[in-house]
Amino acid sequence: MGWVRLIEWDRCPSDRGAYLECVGRELAVFRLDNPPRASVLDNACPHSGGNLAGGTVEGAVVRCPWHDWPFDLDTGKCIHSEKAAAVRYPTELRDGFVWADIPSLADDHLALDADRPNQSGV
Ligand code: FES
Repeated sequence: MGWVRLIEWDRCPSDRGAYLECVGRELAVFRLDNPPRASVLDNACPHSGGNLAGGTVEGAVVRCPWHDWPFDLDTGKCIHSEKAAAVRYPTELRDGFVWADIPSLADDHLALDADRPNQSGV
């Protein structure tokens, strides 16, 4: 897909995420201050699919509402486990809007196909 204008930065709440759907993906958009920036994650928590947009934000950390795992909004990584990370998309603030580089779902399928061994024997 590419870069997509998602939401006005001023409309993003500062104590939780904003839930959006874009090109078939469910996203959680977070407003961060000092300095002003945004973070866009897949809304599904990598632990068990919790709604990250509904999590509690403290500083640059969101806590999943289901089991309280904390994720660094600048990296997507779980603070308690190096192996767990939320999917985080490249994000920019431009002209008061949050933009993110969102791949289409078809891009996921192409990447999976590229990882499969050649079944044709050619
Ligand atoms: S589903 Fe998010 S911490 Fe369990």
